[in-house]
Amino acid sequence: MIPIKTAKEIDKMRIAGRATGEVLGRVAALVQPGVTTKELDEAAAQFIAETGGRSAFLGYHGYPGNICISVNEEVVHGIAGGRKVQYGDIVKLDVGVIKSGFVGDTATTVPAGLVDPAVQKLLEISEESLRVAISHALAGGRLGDICASVEETVAAHGFTVVREFVGHGVGRKLHEEPQVPNYGKPRTGPRLKPGMTLAIEPMVNLGVCDVRILEDGWTVVTADGKPSAHFEHTVLITEGEPEILTWREKTQLK
Ligand code: MF3
Ligand code: CO
Ligand code: CO
Repeated sequence: MIPIKTAKEIDKMRIAGRATGEVLGRVAALVQPGVTTKELDEAAAQFIAETGGRSAFLGYHGYPGNICISVNEEVVHGIAGGRKVQYGDIVKLDVGVIKSGFVGDTATTVPAGLVDPAVQKLLEISEESLRVAISHALAGGRLGDICASVEETVAAHGFTVVREFVGHGVGRKLHEEPQVPNYGKPRTGPRLKPGMTLAIEPMVNLGVCDVRILEDGWTVVTADGKPSAHFEHTVLITEGEPEILTWREKTQLK
């Protein structure tokens, strides 16, 4: 069963979502050549504490970081360490905050300076695929409409979607029903209803769709070593337009 949130629960999801978006924006603003992923993770811990919430990831199935930080060919679930961000890298930041008993989950991909034009295109199309997917998060529609739209947007530009990892329902728990793959068939799957809250999260590869997991047991990397992008929002289905619960001001660049 896909949980339907009550009005009170939705208010709490809004509180959690707003905090999560704020943390992501603040960490994203710190991405620059020379910063270590550990420094970003420690800053995130501080920002999360300032919201009055706590990390939804730290300790989740033993995950050791406050947020997930994944660089270049790392797709998702990267663990912070001594690696220094270099000019031209892309840095995926994925933040989950538990506040008022509910979880917000949101991610973005930040370029460190100017990146290769093909990588810039990857970022633009990946973010666009999230925008289009959210536009399908409509009551009366079907889950497959959201899923199919991601792959359609991405494939039109020659990029591929990761199939082993998927978006998900989100609420009192980080991962709830349903699974939200970045591929599927339009007009199939469960009906979307007001009060459903979904983490929609395209993971898009420049090269092949295949991925593998590093020896740390967490870090997902592309099989061909080419870059990957990730964008994610927690979205509420309403009677009308979808509501992006993790919305934030565009990251301020220094
Ligand atoms: N944020 C990831 C997602 O979008 C899940 C991270 S789980 C963790 O679903 F254990 F790696 F933190
Ligand atoms: Co996430
Ligand atoms: Co998620």
